[in-house]
Amino acid sequence: MIIRDTNSGYGLVTRLTHWVMAVAVIGLFALGLWMVTLNYYSPWYVTAPDIHRSVGMLLLFLLALRFFWRLANPKPDDFELSPFERKASAVVHWGFYPLLLAIMLSGYLISTSGGRPIDVFGWFSVPALIENPGLETPAGKVHEMLSYLMIAVVVLHAAASLKHHFIDRSRILVRMWSGPPTN
Ligand code: HEM
Ligand code: HEM
Repeated sequence: MIIRDTNSGYGLVTRLTHWVMAVAVIGLFALGLWMVTLNYYSPWYVTAPDIHRSVGMLLLFLLALRFFWRLANPKPDDFELSPFERKASAVVHWGFYPLLLAIMLSGYLISTSGGRPIDVFGWFSVPALIENPGLETPAGKVHEMLSYLMIAVVVLHAAASLKHHFIDRSRILVRMWSGPPTN
């Protein structure tokens, strides 16, 4: 089992965190859109935002882990890509980090600017560091807009990976799923 990334492919940590994050982030987007339509009498009125905030905060730790893991590992070769594709994918891949960080921080501000900490599944709580109730509304707008932007980038990113797979017949998508060749 190859844990670290090599010049010829992605190790277990990158692949696992990539797909866990992809599923969780897309899930949070859908959950976010749904939960803001709930009314006070829905049994999910309290639970859905609790889950959204808890998963969101856990993802913040995962994002930090991924970022440092990327810096500490070699990047697999991308000679199958054209110079344009190489640049575009670097912008998208690195762009995900500040974009997701901004979504998470704005979500944190919506939840804590009233002074309440975030309880993460009852396991631990994240303190409210900036108490300023006026921030809730603008943070909510930013959170919503950046979430839509992020989903648009994800669609582009997924479409590019499918194009490499089905049209260019390259290993780009396969290597994010299965590890580097062991021989
Ligand atoms: C990648 C991570 C995240 C995504 C994709 C995401 C996405 C969304 C979306 C699409 C909405 C609905 C926005 C609307 O239509 O008004 C929403 C609402 C919300 N999110 Fe997130 N979110 C994420 C992380 C977080 C985090 C980390 C927190 C807090 C710790 C958080 C707290 C909230 C809150 C409190 C709302 C309700 C806002 C309102 O009442 O208008 N989110 N989120
Ligand atoms: C929220 C969702 C997603 C995020 C945040 C995300 C993020 C990323 C990042 C940061 C990388 C660079 C990996 C690295 O160098 O460490 C990457 C690579 C990759 N992603 Fe995603 N991704 C998402 C969803 C998807 C989806 C839905 C697909 C496919 C259907 C996909 C396919 C790939 C592939 C094939 C690579 C490898 C590209 C290469 O080797 O150059 N991703 N992704």
